[in-house]
Amino acid sequence: MKVTLSVIKADIGGYVGHSGMHPRLMEVAEEKLREAQESGLLIDYFVTRVGDDLQLIMTHTQGTESETIHKLAWDTFMAATEEAKALKLYGAGQDLLTDTFSGNVKGMGPGLAEMEIEERPSEPVIIFMADKTSPGAWNILLYRIFADPFNTAGLVIDPKLHPGFTFEVMDIRNNTLVRLDTPEETYDLLALIGSIERFVIRAVYRRLDGEIAAVASTQKLSLIAGKYVGKDDPVMIVRAQSGFPAVGEILEAFTHPPLVPGFMRGSHFGPLIPVPFHFSNTARFDGPPRVIAAGFQLAEGRLVGPRDLFDDPSFDRAREMGNLVSDYIRRMGPFEPHRLSEDEMEYTTLPSVLKHLENRFQKLED
Ligand code: F6R
Ligand code: MG
Ligand code: MG
Repeated sequence: MKVTLSVIKADIGGYVGHSGMHPRLMEVAEEKLREAQESGLLIDYFVTRVGDDLQLIMTHTQGTESETIHKLAWDTFMAATEEAKALKLYGAGQDLLTDTFSGNVKGMGPGLAEMEIEERPSEPVIIFMADKTSPGAWNILLYRIFADPFNTAGLVIDPKLHPGFTFEVMDIRNNTLVRLDTPEETYDLLALIGSIERFVIRAVYRRLDGEIAAVASTQKLSLIAGKYVGKDDPVMIVRAQSGFPAVGEILEAFTHPPLVPGFMRGSHFGPLIPVPFHFSNTARFDGPPRVIAAGFQLAEGRLVGPRDLFDDPSFDRAREMGNLVSDYIRRMGPFEPHRLSEDEMEYTTLPSVLKHLENRFQKLED
């Protein structure tokens, strides 16, 4: 059976500040999606959140980029925004960059990851959702999962993984795309995806048969809006087992928290820590950036789950390391590399602060 899994997300108001989500917003989203399921549009759905971001996880048969499904997500965010405004929640409607829906949520503020698949006899999928960071945060993790044999044993010993994976990489500044095959083009791939603010992995395919293995949201709000409007707080879907990396190989990638851009005011590098659902609220310095993992078994499009995959002591050390790294890097205050590079600070409120100094700079004779 062909089924589409759509994960569409937006920050439509924080509680308190940018730290978490008011339960009412999730109730509103739940009501909307339940109606859509009763009408037959959705096979199944699950409403969740990480920090102040609301995620709509939906299964259906409309294919990717379906106007009907995107409109449903948009209308749901609008309805929840009404509630957020009534409660005067913080930044109500912040990610909805326009008033009117025009066919596709892409470019309108919400982030999305979608895949249409032929459901296997058993189809385990993991949906990762992060807060206080941007889409490039997935680069190192996707590399570890699909191209690093020290992380993923199957690359060496499973004949279906052994041929490697194809990475689809976007240059989000120039809006171009390149496909690179691993293991042969590993060094080229790394040359690009090490620049996480510019090159972002959009999808990964299995080389054996071209099957889609993972898809990530790549929307960069600051490039859409031309100014800082909150971090993009990305999501991604990864398929597991039977010729894809095992659940444990996928999760293994998260045991070493990478430094990612985001954290306070979207302007600082901090460790991306894997947390259980109940720790998804951000706190210290509006962070640290964090990621949750929701595991599902698909059954004819039904979402059997979720299992809270980071709710396990085997991630305690990653969280401890994350806290240690936060202690270390926080002591740098406004200095790089805790603070983002000057290029990236262009999209924040910093340039407006520096405006008054413009006329104070005197020309130097060499
Ligand atoms: C990070 C984020 C927060 C805010 C910060 C200041 O993505 O959204 O760290 O940037 O709380 O928010 P304002 O300027 O709205 O007071
Ligand atoms: Mg927010
Ligand atoms: Mg957020």
